[in-house]
Amino acid sequence: MPTQSKTALVTGITGQDGSYLAELLLEKGYTVHGIVRRSSSFNTSRIDHLYRDPHEADTRLFLHYGDLTDGQNLTNLVLDVQPDEIYNLGAQSHVRVSFDAPAYTVQTVALGALNVLEAARQLSKTKPTRVYQASSSEMYGDVVETPQRETTPFSPQSPYACAKVYAFHQTVNYRNAYSLFASNGILFNHESPRRGETFVTRKITRAATRIKLGLQKKLYLGNLDAKRDWGYAKDYVEGMWRILQHDEPDDFVLATGETQTIRTFLDYAFGVLDLDWNDYVEIDPRYFRPSEVDLLLGDNTKAKEKLGWEPKTTCKELAELMIQHDLTLAHQELKRTSN
Ligand code: NAP
Ligand code: GDD
Repeated sequence: MPTQSKTALVTGITGQDGSYLAELLLEKGYTVHGIVRRSSSFNTSRIDHLYRDPHEADTRLFLHYGDLTDGQNLTNLVLDVQPDEIYNLGAQSHVRVSFDAPAYTVQTVALGALNVLEAARQLSKTKPTRVYQASSSEMYGDVVETPQRETTPFSPQSPYACAKVYAFHQTVNYRNAYSLFASNGILFNHESPRRGETFVTRKITRAATRIKLGLQKKLYLGNLDAKRDWGYAKDYVEGMWRILQHDEPDDFVLATGETQTIRTFLDYAFGVLDLDWNDYVEIDPRYFRPSEVDLLLGDNTKAKEKLGWEPKTTCKELAELMIQHDLTLAHQELKRTSN
């Protein structure tokens, strides 16, 4: 049941988190504006189910072309839309790719966040607005304490993580310097059936289900020893929303408090299909990173106590629901190829 009548602006609305967040905000009665990059092919598949005919009276989702690197466009949009809440989720979000495209990653992740904050600052001169910055556990990098919490020092290990550290500090700076309601969510890895197919969990669930149906023979991966604190994206967007409903701006870790190796995720995913991953997985050094983050494990105590947020889905349950989704996709693919 709708409980709100606020307006939100979401960057990165076509991504995994943006799509779940848009669903949540629409359910809560928000009017939602999303920024979409112009692409030579369609890039809205994750939100198409939310997007009704704009001539319908009750449409509450509006999409605008834009790019985080275009500050003028962002400011114009923010001043036009007059959002109560801005969620900055847009990013070149792939850590391995950030080593290949460091400058572009910094432009979208670091300067993009600055552009969003500056646009919000302009709006806040005439109307209060709140900004959520999608910060990342990758900032902890070569971790100096475990588990990682809000007070743990950062030690970034990739161009992506360095850019996220900049965005984190700039968010705090705009809060202190301009009294802007600007908060960081420091989110540990979160996955779903909508996860991009080059992130390791989805790469595994897509491959396992295709192997099961004979559509693929091998799965090539990199470092299997890294440990990640994996949660379900749908749980995490609820946390983002709660961060902006808090009575004051602050920074929060969202995590499950459990960590697993890639090997364990392989056990869970292939196990659902009664397969032994050792028969199919091969190591390809192309997927190693110039510097790796070996262990991430978050402490979500502050979010539990101050926001009443906690994750509802275990890593094993997450692997199961991703496998069920990807099995359906694999069956559809098999049907298409055998017709
Ligand atoms: P994602 O699926 O990769 O989505 C990224 C979104 O950003 C897409 O909508 C993408 O648009 C958009 N984007 C990329 N470059 C852009 C640009 N220059 N201008 C405007 N939009 C741009 O990422 P996600 O997993 O949903 O993550 C959301 C945010 O949380 C990201 O900032 C990510 O770094 C951060 N984060 C993610 C996790 C996680 O585990 N998922 C954890 C911590 C933090 P296209 O669809 O056109 O590519
Ligand atoms: N992508 C990928 N592909 N990763 C692999 C592979 C592979 O073939 N083989 C092993 N890995 C290892 C990586 O080396 C890394 O240690 C781990 O699997 C997870 O990789 P990703 O799924 O790509 O995620 P990530 O942890 O690097 O980054 C994600 O989480 C961050 C939060 O901690 C992204 O969503 C970031 O945007 C996010 O900030």
